[in-house]
Amino acid sequence: MPHAHIRGWGKYVPANVMTNDDLARIVDTNDEWIRTRTGIAERRLAGKEETTATMGAKAAREALTRAQADPADVELIIVATVTPDRVFPSASCVIQDLIGATNAAAFDLSAGCSGFVYALSVASKMIESGAYRNALVIGAETLSHLVNWEDRSTCVLFGDGAGAFFLEADERPGGLLGFELGADGSGGALLTGPLVGRGYVPAVGPENSPDYIYMNGRAVYRFATRVMGVAAKKAIERAGLTIEDIDLFIPHQANLRIIEAAAKQLQLPMEKVYVNIHRYGNTSAASIPVACAEAAEEGRLKPGDTVVMVGFGAGLTWAAAVVQWPEPLPNGHKRTTTARSWFYDKRARFVSMRHRLGHRVDELLETVRRDS
Ligand code: ACO
Repeated sequence: MPHAHIRGWGKYVPANVMTNDDLARIVDTNDEWIRTRTGIAERRLAGKEETTATMGAKAAREALTRAQADPADVELIIVATVTPDRVFPSASCVIQDLIGATNAAAFDLSAGCSGFVYALSVASKMIESGAYRNALVIGAETLSHLVNWEDRSTCVLFGDGAGAFFLEADERPGGLLGFELGADGSGGALLTGPLVGRGYVPAVGPENSPDYIYMNGRAVYRFATRVMGVAAKKAIERAGLTIEDIDLFIPHQANLRIIEAAAKQLQLPMEKVYVNIHRYGNTSAASIPVACAEAAEEGRLKPGDTVVMVGFGAGLTWAAAVVQWPEPLPNGHKRTTTARSWFYDKRARFVSMRHRLGHRVDELLETVRRDS
């Protein structure tokens, strides 16, 4: 059976930084409250020209470049997001076009902040089944668009960004070693996003904000501290490992106190826990792949390391995965050079432009046909 090895990873965060002091000028809050209650010091907000899809495409390109892979060879794209640019087309289809992955199947997956680990599990199993040889798994979010900037209990928590893995089949053991996915829809009303459409009463949280993120912070806090440790333990057990085998714990970055509570349940010292919430706040489905990319950049994640990723979020959902961080590509596996990656990138842009022009020409021909 093939295993789904991580061949490349990438991240993108917008340049625009909003500090706690910046927020204190908008709502009644302060740096000290936000830091002590959440661990957040600043977050990044998408610029005017940036969307979930454009950020996801940048992270995906970085992952492909690291894997030395041609976008045209990508077979599957799964984007975990609750903030696609539109209800449809999916963010994954927009990203497919932006990166020129013209031969890939593409769909979005919605599981709140657990979305990336859900998507990683689905893609890995698709590869293990032999149905696909490779997959791009992306977590990308623009939560700043869903936040009520007058609600201090939520607007201080969230940020924007994207992260991506490129997975590829390999006969050697590795990749996803075990996972645990879960959901409890009865808690859906504790954390909701805007209504889609108007004029009907939704089944979940009819009293909740119709336009913005609504969250019962204390209840979500209790839920998160209850499920994170349990989910991680189950995934570790399924991998046939024990907590002593874990080199690094990469939790969803929602609240430093929740992360510390989970580490305590797992009896993991904080040196084995990766935290970057102070820089980005809660970027939902993007938080785990962004954290992985930074942990690798900083040398905290090393080739062959066993890592546990755990998320929780809207749904309510939770998800944990035990993954072996990749060894460098074996000799002879090198597929391309930086110059060829540059070429792939340019070709992808050209192909995408040609397709778009083709659709535009079709539209014009249709108009001429109708008018004549
Ligand atoms: N600045 C200053 N004061 C504030 C702020 C703020 N930004 N926000 C709330 N307060 C006040 C409240 O009004 C309250 O005042 P009161 O006691 O006079 O009524 C006080 O601070 C305490 O409020 P709590 O809500 O009890 O604060 P708590 O310690 O629970 O922290 C927090 C709130 C940070 C939201 C916490 O509950 C939390 O992190 N919950 C989990 C959130 C989470 O992880 N969400 C994941 C989302 S995942 C996804 O899928 C999107």
